[in-house]
Amino acid sequence: MNKNIKNILNKKNKSKLVCLTAYSKNIASILDKHCDIVLVGDSLGSVLYNYKSTKEVTLNTMINHSRSVRLGVKKSLMIVDMPHNTYRNPKEALKNAKLVMKKTKCDAIKLEGGKKILPIVKKLVKNKIPVMGHIGILPQTDKKFTFKGKKLLERNRILNEAKLLESAGIFSIVLECIEIELSKIITKKLTIPTIGIGSSVNCDGQVLVVDDLIGLSDSKFRFVKRYVSIKKIINEAVKKYKSEVLNKQFPKIKNSFKN
Ligand code: KIV
Repeated sequence: MNKNIKNILNKKNKSKLVCLTAYSKNIASILDKHCDIVLVGDSLGSVLYNYKSTKEVTLNTMINHSRSVRLGVKKSLMIVDMPHNTYRNPKEALKNAKLVMKKTKCDAIKLEGGKKILPIVKKLVKNKIPVMGHIGILPQTDKKFTFKGKKLLERNRILNEAKLLESAGIFSIVLECIEIELSKIITKKLTIPTIGIGSSVNCDGQVLVVDDLIGLSDSKFRFVKRYVSIKKIINEAVKKYKSEVLNKQFPKIKNSFKN
């Protein structure tokens, strides 16, 4: 088993797991110093490309961004999201996951879904492709993005799917916007780590979209915490640059070449 995956599994019940998304090298290299997991999420569709949903993200887009991220990730576990319609059956999933692993040199891939994807997970795991699961809100297929686990029937379904996915061989699972107590139960029942987004402190680890955390996006989701407004900082720097260009204070001799 991949050394990093072993380390991630070993942290269950010992230390929280830190995970963030990255879509390119420079950010990835900063995250790599602090994160257990760097995820190339298909959230890049909305964050970078303004797509209405992640459905529009293609395999090539994921591969290109992941290749850039790979250049910045040296020690963390790098996971790549398989985009919508690239894993509709075991055969298609294996072909595309193999391509992603080969082209991006990532450590694992992530798939959204419950019962429906069990044969796909089994096929990939059998072929030595490490798989992270993703339940709760499923941005690739859900129509409504409201939190999961309000009703008993839904709670039982989600818990059951988490257990089935674990039995199918996933090494970890993202819980997206799952009710607090249900996240606690799932985390307790599973032997693999749960990574929460909008699913409370009860999970084994947390993930956020890095653009939200640094204030580069305008997202106002309840589960996001903005730690800095990088937009403000960039704005100030660009304003200063503009002023220096207009006032001929930049470039100076030291920024220029002379024989
Ligand atoms: O696409 C993504 O960024 C994700 C995380 C937010 C879990 O799936």
